[in-house]
Amino acid sequence: MDRFRIAGGTRLQGTVRISGAKNSALPAMAAALLSPEPVHLKNIPRVRDIITMGRLLAHMSVRVETPDLPPTDLTIQAEKISDAEAPYELVRTMRASILTLGPLVGRLGHARVSLPGGCAIGARPVDLHLKALEQMGAEISTEHGYVAARVPAGGRLPGGQVIFEKITVTGTENILMAAVLADGETRIENAALEPEVIDLIELLVKMGARIEGGGTSSLRVQGVQKLCGATHSIIPDRIEAGTFLVAGAITGGAVEVAECLPQHLVSLIAKLRETGVNIEQPNDHTLRVCGSRKLIAADVRTEEYPGFPTDMQAQFMALATQADGASVITETIFENRFLHASEMMRMGASISIDGRKAIVRGPTRLQGSSVIASDLRASASLVLAALVAQGMSYVDRVYHIDRGYERIEEKLSRLGAHIERVS
Ligand code: UD1
Repeated sequence: MDRFRIAGGTRLQGTVRISGAKNSALPAMAAALLSPEPVHLKNIPRVRDIITMGRLLAHMSVRVETPDLPPTDLTIQAEKISDAEAPYELVRTMRASILTLGPLVGRLGHARVSLPGGCAIGARPVDLHLKALEQMGAEISTEHGYVAARVPAGGRLPGGQVIFEKITVTGTENILMAAVLADGETRIENAALEPEVIDLIELLVKMGARIEGGGTSSLRVQGVQKLCGATHSIIPDRIEAGTFLVAGAITGGAVEVAECLPQHLVSLIAKLRETGVNIEQPNDHTLRVCGSRKLIAADVRTEEYPGFPTDMQAQFMALATQADGASVITETIFENRFLHASEMMRMGASISIDGRKAIVRGPTRLQGSSVIASDLRASASLVLAALVAQGMSYVDRVYHIDRGYERIEEKLSRLGAHIERVS
């Protein structure tokens, strides 16, 4: 099993290019199930979850091709779908497999997807996805760990009024994909506003979908008979960009984060500035971070977009260990997302947890240690902590980080970090 060996203490310097957003690429790949024609996706990140989604589609006899080398483009053609089923073996490694449910029911009128189960950061149920599909006229049953959805009268889903009682990102995406081929209109209230949802809407509209209200929490979808192929470039990964901003800040370095979209990072940039990090935006797709000033503690509360992203909470905690004073970090989205805290404490951080609040007192001199990554963003935060720690750290179970970051050790090395992948 691979791990990272990191010698801390280097100020990062240089330019890093941000890859396409994993959380946008996954629903875009699932959306290709909606059309028999080819969907060309550009700026796909080379991360493990994309390979898993590719395998899942191939399992359904969908053609998945990578025309370029290294593969940042994908062509997906679901001319025929042999098997509308997402098996447990694939779903268990990637919860986002649930994103195939909506498009399969929308196109075929039936689907069977393994229930994703809990994960390290919380129970993460899919009840809201299922309730919404019922509101659109699907019949849902669960058996042997699988959820089966079908249109009882056969044919297409009727569509309907969906009111999400809680904002859900993949839930909104799933229902949008079910609604675009429905027989009637679907109204979605309390829809997620994340940029990845907007990116999916853009792709679906290119494929011929009729969606109004994009960018608001009320969406209106007029179902169409058929969708066509399209070409679409995936937006840059705002979480990868945010992680590199923190990497620059925590090491007191000077890092240019290129090919990102600063407008998707407004709440994070504001919070980093509050902690004393100097961030400049030379143009619409570049940010420069200069971390030479003293860091000051700041409180953070995770929220749905455009609030502070839960996917940046762990990385911010690493930064807070270096800030002067007490930072209160409140996690409101997931119930158990502080697993990285105990590993940071083993490195010498002063953190106390009280339910959904973590209080980080700094600055502390972190010491190189062996730590274990528990989930994708937790592993990124431990790499960040190791970059500033004194001496050598080992971050174990980097398969978590490989799920969502494209060769993070290579990108960090190019900025001067001493990081190596060892087995
Ligand atoms: C997506 C992102 C993930 C990010 C999260 C929140 C992808 C592939 N993943 O995950 O990186 O951390 O948004 O920004 O895009 N919930 C329910 N029932 C449901 C669905 C969700 O109770 O049916 C709860 C969840 O447990 C969680 C909250 O709602 O507490 C928000 O979850 P959701 O927005 O659905 O997260 P994901 O879409 O799974």
